[in-house]
Amino acid sequence: MGDNRRDFLKKMGIAGAGMAMMSSPFMQTIAAQGNEKSIRVGVIGTGGRGRYLLEHLLRLQKDEKFEIVAICDNYEPSLTAALNLSLKYKVKPQTYVDYVKLINDNSLDGVIIATPLHQHAHIAIDCMKAGIHVLCEKSMARKLDDVKAMHDAHLNSGSILLIGHQRMFSNKYQNAMQRIHDGELGQIGQMHAHWHRANDWRRAVPKGKPELERQINWRLYKEYSAGLLTELMSHQIQVANWAMQKIPVSVMGTGSIRYWKDGREVNDNLAAIFSYDDGTKFTYDTQTINKKYGCEEEIMGDKGSFELETNKYYSTTPAKPKAAPGIAQLVGDIQKGLFETVPVGGPSWAPEDAQKYKGESIYEGQKGDGSREEVLGFIRFIKQGKCPEWMTSEGYYASIWTLLTEQAIDSGQMVTMPETYRI
Ligand SMILES: NC(=O)c1ccc[n+]([C@@H]2O[C@H](COP(=O)([O-])OP(=O)(O)OC[C@H]3O[C@@H](n4cnc5c(N)ncnc54)[C@H](O)[C@@H]3O)[C@@H](O)[C@H]2O)c1
Repeated sequence: MGDNRRDFLKKMGIAGAGMAMMSSPFMQTIAAQGNEKSIRVGVIGTGGRGRYLLEHLLRLQKDEKFEIVAICDNYEPSLTAALNLSLKYKVKPQTYVDYVKLINDNSLDGVIIATPLHQHAHIAIDCMKAGIHVLCEKSMARKLDDVKAMHDAHLNSGSILLIGHQRMFSNKYQNAMQRIHDGELGQIGQMHAHWHRANDWRRAVPKGKPELERQINWRLYKEYSAGLLTELMSHQIQVANWAMQKIPVSVMGTGSIRYWKDGREVNDNLAAIFSYDDGTKFTYDTQTINKKYGCEEEIMGDKGSFELETNKYYSTTPAKPKAAPGIAQLVGDIQKGLFETVPVGGPSWAPEDAQKYKGESIYEGQKGDGSREEVLGFIRFIKQGKCPEWMTSEGYYASIWTLLTEQAIDSGQMVTMPETYRI
């Protein structure tokens, strides 16, 4: 999968420095590399995510040399909102409705693309061909061939292609991944992730303009999106692959529109199982009617496990808790006794005890989800003229396996990756 991550971390001064260094923030090390030259950047697609990233850019300008020279959106309310946001920070970028004009009018060094999924590939490829470095939101493209074409354009142009998986820039995830790769969890046997929500995932369409439904709610229509797969799972398969330092060999899955029967075309719930070549499984599920279990990635090894979203590490051999108070001990003994004197024909098993201890934090001090660091990282990568290749590969394979999962669900077949998509 591209450059060796350990080499990258070594170059960045993180690897091999032990626990003390591991708590040193990843991005501080990146930030230690020169802030001399100013660069010119723009944002294409200034809807919800585009404006969020734009605001990070606007805030970063206080400490970092770069200019936000142009913004583009083909939906007037989004463009106006982005301009107003910029003006609040006393920045006045040129506004464009047509991204081609934005490319031609400005000698940009870098661009953030946050358009809907089906509007990623051609814009990113045009930008890279014009010598502009690209941070493109996940997932990469609606079609497998377009994902590959984006990667080819990156290789042929030499332009950076960073995909918006912000967890790669989170100190918490960086720290956890280094510990996994250093063997702290022992042998990984299984990984599980889920993303559960309890809402219809709809955006309000302006009154009297029903013709905007598909444009605004593009996530719900197959022409533009693979729904929960490209929008949510893409992040979590990236985390699983990152933990494994390899890609799966197969995926199978199932999904349906179970609850939100409102004209949407994408599944409102689904489950998938990925297998890696060493037998490790990554099981995944997402749904939109109950959020009790929220969003999580669990990496389980024979020495310990991580719950990454909630920042938890659990050893399989934690330091012994203090002796249980007498009464609790007594209750425990009685319960144990019950299971030990199973009557013939009764239950022949006792459930595995889940660990009772509350675990430890993986990393303290991570604010936010890594998006700020991602934007700063992108600016720094532009100044350095390169981005670590493994980061591009992570985005690439997360996108490929997301779309292969869609194939598996739609066909009901186990799916493997055609060799043409190997990079
Ligand atoms: N990394 C994350 O955590 C995260 C979170 C949310 C969204 N996203 C990603 O960000 C992207 C955008 O999502 P969103 O929620 O902001 O969607 P959105 O619909 O709110 O915004 C998309 C914007 O792009 C504009 N647009 C569409 N086609 C365009 C074109 N050809 N040229 C210029 N502008 C165009 C739309 O008018 C809209 O304003 C998606 O790829 C999504 O997956 C990532």
